[in-house]
Amino acid sequence: MTNIQTTYVGVNEVKQPVNVDLREAIPVYRRILNEKSVRELIVVEKTTMVVLRGHGVLEALRLLSADKVPVFQVDSSKVKVKSLQPGLRPITLEAVIKAGVEGPRLPYKSFDVQIEEEIPSIEVDLNELNVWKRVGGRRLRVYDSTMELLYEDWPTPLVKLRFFSSEDRSVWAKLEGANPYSNSVKDRIGWSMIMSALEEGKLGDILYEATSTNTGIAITAIANLLGRKTRLFIPKTIQKASDVFLKVLGADVVRVPVGLTVEAIEEVDAKSKSEGATHLNQFENDANFKVHLKYTAKEIDEQLESRGLKPDCIVGGLGTSGHMSAISIYFKSKYGGSVKIVGVQPAPNEVIPGIRRIETGMKWIHWVDFDQVIDVKRNEAIEGALTVARKEGLLIGLSAGAVFHAFTKIAEDGGVYVLVFPDTGYKYVEQFEEYFHSV
Ligand SMILES: Cc1ncc(COP(=O)(O)O)c(C=O)c1O
Repeated sequence: MTNIQTTYVGVNEVKQPVNVDLREAIPVYRRILNEKSVRELIVVEKTTMVVLRGHGVLEALRLLSADKVPVFQVDSSKVKVKSLQPGLRPITLEAVIKAGVEGPRLPYKSFDVQIEEEIPSIEVDLNELNVWKRVGGRRLRVYDSTMELLYEDWPTPLVKLRFFSSEDRSVWAKLEGANPYSNSVKDRIGWSMIMSALEEGKLGDILYEATSTNTGIAITAIANLLGRKTRLFIPKTIQKASDVFLKVLGADVVRVPVGLTVEAIEEVDAKSKSEGATHLNQFENDANFKVHLKYTAKEIDEQLESRGLKPDCIVGGLGTSGHMSAISIYFKSKYGGSVKIVGVQPAPNEVIPGIRRIETGMKWIHWVDFDQVIDVKRNEAIEGALTVARKEGLLIGLSAGAVFHAFTKIAEDGGVYVLVFPDTGYKYVEQFEEYFHSV
């Protein structure tokens, strides 16, 4: 498709002058992934590569981890900018270029452009943009920093649970406990939230966060690399050992008299504002959901594809709802309704660290489709973990045990199942011990 004006360029070469809200990018992401092609050129100003049209397409392709994007380059003399913000200072071409090159960015859909040139129509397969490239894959596993160990080591393993598989059924566990800092799925969001705050110039010297342990470990680990401090607010219901892990890493730990982590958000938000700290807020921060769209969901797809498989059912726990909402949107956009998505929450009045009930308030789950949500009791979660340990030799955490228990409730004799195991069992010694005393 290349000629001088219409060509592919590296995704980082084009400059985004507007803030595209994640909610606005999602329909575009869905359409592109569903059609597996892009039908719209991103129009850029040719000397600066600032995007004039196609802001949503660029954002969607970034979320798909495309390496390249299809652009149409125009000369600024052929462009007229029409401001769409009545009553405010009109947006000029110069303002758009400045917003792309130096910021601050403009609101989405705040202007439109007229171009005195015919823009060709295209249909570019996502293959051409390197969307399906393999992630990670360093065989010798030598890294130049611990941060590189985190993101260069993805994908986390996908392992077949042989005891629970048969000729007609394969059951795969996605082992998020293989992440290096918190040994949990939360390393991904710690990295993503901190990196996006850093990029936006919003990362202060001290970070406050409400956490039930894993996010706190991940954030503190990465903050340490960047010379930042953390103060973490942990519910009283969380195991005592967490204070020790977090103090070893150098965090300030504050126990708060709430049952669920999410109940501490308002207090943490108010404190961070009055004390000049950065509140990343995993419950609201779209960098959480985005990192799972860009990596976790794609990894599972790529890993199964390497065995010639497509999932029939994916089961996972709901905390912030970040990872399972992203997995739902990715697989349902790519394969339609044939992939069943099952969320797991604690049964009423049961405490399972890391997960909670939907009615306690979650953001992304309301943007996507879930086929079923299964309630699991704490003892069922613990027994699920024991079964996996005793049949497969993996010491998994309580929320992973809950995922396994939910799987046993819905499993049919055939099909490809993926169970997302958020972490390992080592942090939950107190809960396992208490269980052994009680039975
Ligand atoms: C152990 C554990 N399991 C499950 C989850 C849920 O993940 P998410 O926040 O992506 O819904 C979390 C995170 O809160 C967790 O720490």
